[in-house]
Amino acid sequence: MMSRILVTGAAGFIGSHLVDALLSRGVQVVAVDRRRLGGDAFADENLAAAVGSPLCSPLCLDLATDQLEGVPDGCDTVFHLAARPGVRSSWGAEFLDYAQANVVGTHRLLDACVRSGVRRLVVASSSSVYGPADRPSREDDPTCPVSPYGVSKLAAEQLCLAYARRADSQLSVVALRYFTVYGPRQRPDMAIGRLLFAAYTGFPVTLFGDGSQRREFTYVSDVVSATIAAATLDTQAEVINVGGGASVSMLGAIDTATQVTGRQVPVKVVAAQPGDVPATAADLTRAGRLLGYWPTVGLHEGIARQAAWLVNLSRDRLTTFTS
Ligand SMILES: NC(=O)c1ccc[n+]([C@@H]2O[C@H](COP(=O)([O-])OP(=O)(O)OC[C@H]3O[C@@H](n4cnc5c(N)ncnc54)[C@H](O)[C@@H]3O)[C@@H](O)[C@H]2O)c1
Repeated sequence: MMSRILVTGAAGFIGSHLVDALLSRGVQVVAVDRRRLGGDAFADENLAAAVGSPLCSPLCLDLATDQLEGVPDGCDTVFHLAARPGVRSSWGAEFLDYAQANVVGTHRLLDACVRSGVRRLVVASSSSVYGPADRPSREDDPTCPVSPYGVSKLAAEQLCLAYARRADSQLSVVALRYFTVYGPRQRPDMAIGRLLFAAYTGFPVTLFGDGSQRREFTYVSDVVSATIAAATLDTQAEVINVGGGASVSMLGAIDTATQVTGRQVPVKVVAAQPGDVPATAADLTRAGRLLGYWPTVGLHEGIARQAAWLVNLSRDRLTTFTS
């Protein structure tokens, strides 16, 4: 079913877990990322196990600028996770990189996929395409991103779907809207890692707003399972939420981090940031029906696994944590 697979964003948090899971299933993986192995602490540590596998072919490429012709040759499926993530830094001059990586890079990859005869592209979209909501978001709800990052992710998702919906298209697409993913290798700018870092170091974590904002935290192995299931879904173009099954306030997440570590999480409260919605929650009906998906790792267990990873993290990686 899946013999040779291209993964973009392979050296990142979620992408590297996906690579590991595919390799463990005996799949050949072309692991594309603009991070270069041999010097980039994220690439080196996230792909440490994968590069030892004869099934893994790492490829350092920038999707927005490098030659992509022929890169997907021989791959029936592409998992497209490469993107510039993060809401807060997407407001300023760095938006150029968001536009390049998320929109231009996606467009160039799609063209290369079509020329190489790829049959299925699974793209990592985001809950940030929805905007504010007072009930769990459904895939057919209107989209209303409230950050430049969310706009770039919606553009990428819609680009992929437009390619799939062309009358002459041989390329089918599943766009997965991931909700706040956490677990080992999580990016250092993300909440759960920052809470744990604060608990272990005593340096206060910055809490944006009063802590009542809610997030649907989703453990990374559940995201990987849904992503792999999407490769074989019988569809031409589909959008599916991938969430953790419950929406939890930041104060609730702090409580859980306190229980897991047995330490207080020191907090510095600042104003809520533009682009941060008050709540995210996923309606998982479609994911259950189409992918047989239901999250299996609860927040306490997931944070405990992330804490166990964090305490063994290299000094290079620890210095990248933001407060
Ligand atoms: N982490 C989350 O909570 C979350 C939530 C929703 C959606 N997503 C999406 O999931 C995907 C993975 O997110 P992550 O948290 O693992 O981020 P990450 O930053 O850890 O991984 C993304 C990887 O993509 C690579 N990349 C970026 N631009 C590239 C380019 N132009 N060419 C080649 N490689 C490039 C980066 O070097 C990085 O290794 C992203 O598409 C993100 O938007 C993540």
